[in-house]
Amino acid sequence: MKKTSLSKQAQLNAIADELRHHSTCPLRKTATQPVAGEGNPNAKIVFIGEAPGKNEDLSGRPFIGQAGKVLDELLASVNLKRKDVFITSIEKFRPPNNRVPTPKEIMACFPYLERQIAIIQPKIIVTLGRYALQRMLEWESGEKVSPPPMADYHGKKIPSKKGYIYLPLYHPAAALYNRKLLAVMKDDFLAVIR
Ligand code: URA
Repeated sequence: MKKTSLSKQAQLNAIADELRHHSTCPLRKTATQPVAGEGNPNAKIVFIGEAPGKNEDLSGRPFIGQAGKVLDELLASVNLKRKDVFITSIEKFRPPNNRVPTPKEIMACFPYLERQIAIIQPKIIVTLGRYALQRMLEWESGEKVSPPPMADYHGKKIPSKKGYIYLPLYHPAAALYNRKLLAVMKDDFLAVIR
């Protein structure tokens, strides 16, 4: 029988399905549903946030609340649309009251993110906020890393032994608390397309 290989989208759909039905993440019990991520399976740029919030939990889609509006504005500032990129997060289930996910919760979800990255094979991995950056630096080095100071890292590309380039950015939600940061973020965002 001829062996057919699944399309990238089908493989990503299978991951979303596994998350929904088989994830061992403790947050699966309290969340409405997983937020696996969405976008272009052939994207050159993958955005990784921290964890879904309330709107994402209810809809199953990443970054659709207020922080998502900021992300859309940033994407538009460099002429990108959501369909050009892939958007996901480190933790795939909403933590109660949007608390920071625990290491156990993160590690239960991380293999799914690794598989998503392996399927998409992006050139650039944009981390949104310090927790996403922390986890990806740990993945890169194989060692524990403390939450990195974003003031030192934002907007500066970091080469990866794994063949990607990391671009750490402030989390879009930061612009909701500090409007002045939006200009910095727009400036940093130029590095996404350069
Ligand atoms: N923050 C995230 O990190 N991810 C979302 O999907 C929404 C807010």
